[in-house]
Amino acid sequence: MQEPEFHRIASAAQIAEGKMLEVELEGRSIVICRTRDGWHALDNVCTHAYAKMHEGRLRGNRLICPLHGASFDCRTGAVLGAPAITPLKTYAVRCVGDDVEVALQPPSSAK
Ligand code: FES
Repeated sequence: MQEPEFHRIASAAQIAEGKMLEVELEGRSIVICRTRDGWHALDNVCTHAYAKMHEGRLRGNRLICPLHGASFDCRTGAVLGAPAITPLKTYAVRCVGDDVEVALQPPSSAK
């Protein structure tokens, strides 16, 4: 399988555990979440209507939309709470030294 192409998008020091950061990669808005379980990268636009997920809250691995309160598992993108019904797309993310890197392929293909 072809190795996904990773792009440096942030410094690890920019994002404390429990925090999020919005980044742009190839015209897409992506939210980087740092939790106790590690680094996670997802589409930053809620699948319910239009809201930027990084303006919401991160509680453990639960990413909560600021507009109507839908929640998603930031590790998988799965919907945890209504009103959203469609999962958030996830991306492969890794931390190399102080560099946080994202690939636009889903994490399952990077493992
Ligand atoms: S826009 Fe996110 S829950 Fe409605």
